[in-house]
Amino acid sequence: MMKAQIYFLSFLVVLSSPILLGEERVIPEYDRYNGEEIMDVCAGCHGIYGQGTLDGEYPRLAGMNPAYIARQIELFKTRKRINIAMLPFATDHELPGDDVRDISSYLAGIELPRHMSVLDPNEKFDPLARLEESKKVTNIPHYPGDVEKGERLYRQECRSCHGLKGEGRWDKMAPMLTGQYSSYLLRQIEKIRTGDRFHDSPDDPEIFRSYSDEDIANILAWLSRQDD
Ligand code: HEC
Ligand code: HEC
Repeated sequence: MMKAQIYFLSFLVVLSSPILLGEERVIPEYDRYNGEEIMDVCAGCHGIYGQGTLDGEYPRLAGMNPAYIARQIELFKTRKRINIAMLPFATDHELPGDDVRDISSYLAGIELPRHMSVLDPNEKFDPLARLEESKKVTNIPHYPGDVEKGERLYRQECRSCHGLKGEGRWDKMAPMLTGQYSSYLLRQIEKIRTGDRFHDSPDDPEIFRSYSDEDIANILAWLSRQDD
C-alpha cells in the first residue's frame, strides 16, 4: 500500500514537472526599477500594464516570453520587422541591450487577470481600485467563425509550437496567441502571407498561403475562446 502511494506520488511529480511539457518559464534577473521607467515610454501605446488596445492596433505584451520580446525589439532595430510606430524607440541609442533585457523581463512578469474579481460584500467598495482593476482585465471578445473547424486546424498545424491552448511555448520562441487581440493576430497573419514579416523562420514564408480567409477566421474563433 505504502509503496503504491509512493509510486503514485512520484507519478504526479513527474507529470507536473515543466520539463515534461518541453519548456521552463523562467524570467531572467533584471533591474526592475529601470524596467518600470522604460515602461513609461511603452505605456503610451501598449498601456500601463502592457495590456495593449482592444482594437488590436497595439498588441498586448504582458506575460509574453521575455526572450521573444527581446527578439522582436532586435528585429525592429535591424528593420527585419518593420514597425513604423516604434521606429523612434527601437534603436540602440534609445534602447540599448540592458534596457531591452529590463523591459522584456518587466513585461513578462505582468499578469493580466481574465475576469474581474468577485466583490466581497463585507469589504468597503472602492470605485477607484475597481476602475484600475478593470483596465488590467483582458479577455478577448469572441471572434466569429467555426470554432470546431478552427480547433481541428489549430491542433494539426499550430499546436506543436504555440502550445496546447495557444499559450505559446517559451522554448520554441513561439508567442502566445490566446489572450492576444484577434485583429492584431489577423494583421500579423496578413503580413506573413504577403512576406512583410517572416513567421517561424525566414525560410518559412509559405505558411498561411494555403489557408483560406475562412480557415484563419476559424482558428481565431477558437483562440478567442481559450481565455474565457
Ligand atoms: C508609438 C506607439 C508605440 C510605442 C511607444 C511602443 N510601441 Fe511597441 N508596437 C507598436 C505597434 C503599432 C506594434 C504592432 C506592429 C505590427 O503591427 O507589426 C508594436 C509591437 C510591439 C511588439 C511585438 C509584439 C508581438 O506580439 O510580436 C513588441 C515586443 C513591442 N511593440 C515592444 C515595445 C516596447 C518594449 C516599447 C517601449 C520601449 C514599445 N513597444 C513602445 C507601437 C508602439
Ligand atoms: C514550427 C513552429 C510553428 C508553427 C507550427 C506555427 N508557428 Fe506561429 N510562430 C512561430 C514562431 C517562432 C513565431 C515568432 C516569429 C518571430 O519571432 O517573429 C510565430 C509567430 C506567429 C504569429 C505572430 C504573433 C505575434 O504576437 O506577433 C502568429 C499570428 C502565428 N505565429 C500564428 C500561427 C498559426 C495560426 C499557426 C498554425 C496555422 C502557427 N502559427 C504555426 C512558430 C510556429
